[in-house]
Amino acid sequence: AQRKEIDAVLEPFLLSPETLREVKNKMRTELEYGLKRETQGSATVKMLPTYVCGTPDGTEKGKFLALDLGGTNFRVLLVKIRSGRRKSVRMYNKIFAIPLEIMQGTGEELFDHIVHCIADFLEYMGIKGARLPLGFTFSFPCKQASIDKGTLVGWTKGFKATDCEGEDVVDMLREAIKRRNEFDLDIVAVVNDTVGTMMTCGYEDPNCEIGLIAGTGSNVCYMEDMKNIEIVEGNEGKMCINTEWGGFGDNGCIDNIRTEYDKEVDEGSLNPGKQRYEKMTSGMYLGEIVRQILIDLTKRGLLFRGQISESLRKRGIFETKFLSQIESDRLALLQVRQILQQLGLDSTCEDSIIVKEVCGAVSRRAAQLCGAGLAAIVEKKRENRGVEHLQITVGVDGTLYKLHPHFSRVLQETVKELAPWCDVTFMLSEDGSGKGAALITAVAKRLLGPAN
Ligand code: BG6
Ligand code: GLC
Repeated sequence: AQRKEIDAVLEPFLLSPETLREVKNKMRTELEYGLKRETQGSATVKMLPTYVCGTPDGTEKGKFLALDLGGTNFRVLLVKIRSGRRKSVRMYNKIFAIPLEIMQGTGEELFDHIVHCIADFLEYMGIKGARLPLGFTFSFPCKQASIDKGTLVGWTKGFKATDCEGEDVVDMLREAIKRRNEFDLDIVAVVNDTVGTMMTCGYEDPNCEIGLIAGTGSNVCYMEDMKNIEIVEGNEGKMCINTEWGGFGDNGCIDNIRTEYDKEVDEGSLNPGKQRYEKMTSGMYLGEIVRQILIDLTKRGLLFRGQISESLRKRGIFETKFLSQIESDRLALLQVRQILQQLGLDSTCEDSIIVKEVCGAVSRRAAQLCGAGLAAIVEKKRENRGVEHLQITVGVDGTLYKLHPHFSRVLQETVKELAPWCDVTFMLSEDGSGKGAALITAVAKRLLGPAN
């Protein structure tokens, strides 16, 4: 009877191939809405133009600064790029913490903190006097009218600093640099992390025209034909589109697969009602879904002797790294119990089996949903090119993809199944998106000419 009840709780997390195909088709519909002038305003998948019009070609060169804000780590980087036959990229970086009270304080405090970290880095590298060009990886939805302007549409993930939404993040950074009045920088490009990742991987593989992040958040960008982007003038060539697919489902179109637990997680989040697909597929939320299920199973008396402990009540206890450890097949159950113990959860052997099962169901669904979304993208690319068979590379980054023992495999299997005419190579970004941001900065700088 106990077994049956657990199965019933987890049943909604099992998605049939038909359901996944449906998700793929809906994603495709929403992608098209985002590209069309009439439907663009109300589209949930925003399809934001990035003004990045090509992938690297090896002629990029120079010394650049890059910022990387919005993932697990905030980094400041110095990137040195050499062109030609001996093309190479050398990077130096420092990781800084962004305390919670700064993530959720005022915009001024946030940007002052960022500039403080840049100052620290310049000092540390001994380059405070140089006015270097800077590429800013800012991993949030931005409306761009050029490569060096980006108006924040709305915060996502764990950020909620005041007075930033609707403002240009480049202006906010420039103003904070002025306030500090210690050094000057030439801010050349603002770049989404998906775009930075695509460019990082594109430097090695010119066939890389898609960037995927499966980390704290979930998002994709890809090179779209200009003629399909109605809100940007011109019909020649391609432009990279930041899909912001995390907002998929915000109009209710995937409510049929959202569970009670998904709804709880959404309601307890910083942005209720928003980023519904992201909340089913990314690292920041998977642990929360697991926690909601565990609470329910405990209430039903199926776990932890029916006792909801203080720890289980704590939001955010199951970070991606813990899920990844719990699901590792190399781990004995005793070790799973030790991890739970670390999290303040006293478990029996049977408890630990159930917890592992719950984690598996949640992460597997995440990988499958992400795969269904990606299948829609590669299928679109195939149709754009008008080929029967498409060969394409996807540049990928993010802790969920990198650390989780099964996520990447399930994702790849799902894409294979739902887009059988596409031969997709997944290329892991080893260097983060800062390298890509520097490459974009190099190209933008060259196009602006020597006077700039
Ligand atoms: C990093 C990139 O490697 O991955 C960031 O440099 C990106 O730009 C991040 O945001 C995504 O992963 P996570 O798991 O840190 O959110
Ligand atoms: C969130 C952000 C998006 C970013 C993604 C991955 O979805 O809105 O811009 O690319 O997280 O970091």
